[in-house]
Amino acid sequence: MKVFETWESEIRGYCRKYPTVFATASNARQTDENGKSYIDFFAGAGVLNFGHNNDRMKRAMIEFLESDGVAHSLDMFTTTKRRFIQRFAETVLVPRKMNHKMQFVGPTGTNAVEAALKLARRVTGRHVIYAFSHGFHGMTLGALACTANAYFRGAAGVPLEYVHRLPFENEPGGGIDQIRELQCALADASSGLEKPAAVIVEPIQAEGGVNVASREWLHAVEALAHDNGALLIFDDIQAGCGRTGTYFSFDGMDLAPDIICLAKGVGGYGTAMAMNLVNPEHDGHWKPGEHTGTFRGQGLSFVAGAEAMSYIEDDSFMNDVKRKGAVMADRLKSLVPKNAAPGIAVRGKGMLQGLDVADGSIAGAIAADCFDNGLLIGPCGTEGRVLKLIPPLTIPDADLAEGLDIFAAAVRRHLN
Ligand SMILES: Cc1ncc(COP(=O)(O)O)c(C=O)c1O
Repeated sequence: MKVFETWESEIRGYCRKYPTVFATASNARQTDENGKSYIDFFAGAGVLNFGHNNDRMKRAMIEFLESDGVAHSLDMFTTTKRRFIQRFAETVLVPRKMNHKMQFVGPTGTNAVEAALKLARRVTGRHVIYAFSHGFHGMTLGALACTANAYFRGAAGVPLEYVHRLPFENEPGGGIDQIRELQCALADASSGLEKPAAVIVEPIQAEGGVNVASREWLHAVEALAHDNGALLIFDDIQAGCGRTGTYFSFDGMDLAPDIICLAKGVGGYGTAMAMNLVNPEHDGHWKPGEHTGTFRGQGLSFVAGAEAMSYIEDDSFMNDVKRKGAVMADRLKSLVPKNAAPGIAVRGKGMLQGLDVADGSIAGAIAADCFDNGLLIGPCGTEGRVLKLIPPLTIPDADLAEGLDIFAAAVRRHLN
């Protein structure tokens, strides 16, 4: 530990909550240097959808390394990138009749969001983005302007501008009527409101507290964007890539986003990759190389990401995600005390589930108790009041049950 404390920046965050040194990891378990095993309900903040050191991916990556595949290629053509594009197109895009272009960006989610905002502003010639309360879109200045959390925003050091904040569906003042009223206001040339370049929304807010938008509300948001000549950007960076039992968190809702931001799980193995799916009509507004980035051609991520498609195209795997998600949701619901205080609730979809205990200090105590008993879990939402459960989708039933038992015992000790 001393090395980290002496040399690593004060910015250290998660390691303060999980104060041990992890040495190895396999599927849904991590083992620390003392040999203690932890069940992972955090999964790298939603990166490790297919588990730590996924065997299929590991084998493909070793083969790639041993055959001297191109590990780094900027945005040059490579064999591995072609395979990823082909596999993604045939598994995700074609079955949904989507003809979106894949724009590879610098390898983190915030890069994808920056590119999406830039393109929306380019296409519309407008400046303002509509974003939602509790939204989380990343830490670079454009994305941070769309992120709602005051703690993160406070670190910007400059005013975060050109974003108009709207309440998310389940927030005070939010809902379909609010969107309709805004539509009326926008139709009035004297409302004083600027029409947006884009409306950016997470169909399911993860960091924001596991808030699941309804199909009806998302359709109202879509109309808000499209009726006003703006682009609809879905940030599916945490809730996408199979997490909810379908590839996109909004699958089956008959929605037509102009840009879908993906990162985290898209690289499959925990190696970085981010990508926007862009309506070709808008994609044509980019000039070659205009939004560049050194790390857009990550060979290892392309190899693992292509392998991830074998899970996505497997209906029995995706159905199993739904089944495990239902197991999680049922167990969480059983933990809500009778006559629970207002605000205590279970929310989620698929294997993205949250227990809102309506108090950040209680949630923190539960998470710390879980850690002591061998379970990694991350609080989210306002003041960390929501315990978010996002285990790898590949977690064995036995580990899921054991993790839920540890969680239940911790909740009982701290929530009454
Ligand atoms: C919905 C969403 N968007 C964007 C981001 C930012 O991604 P990154 O941390 O890779 O920049 C995150 C990260 O948690 C996220 O959950």
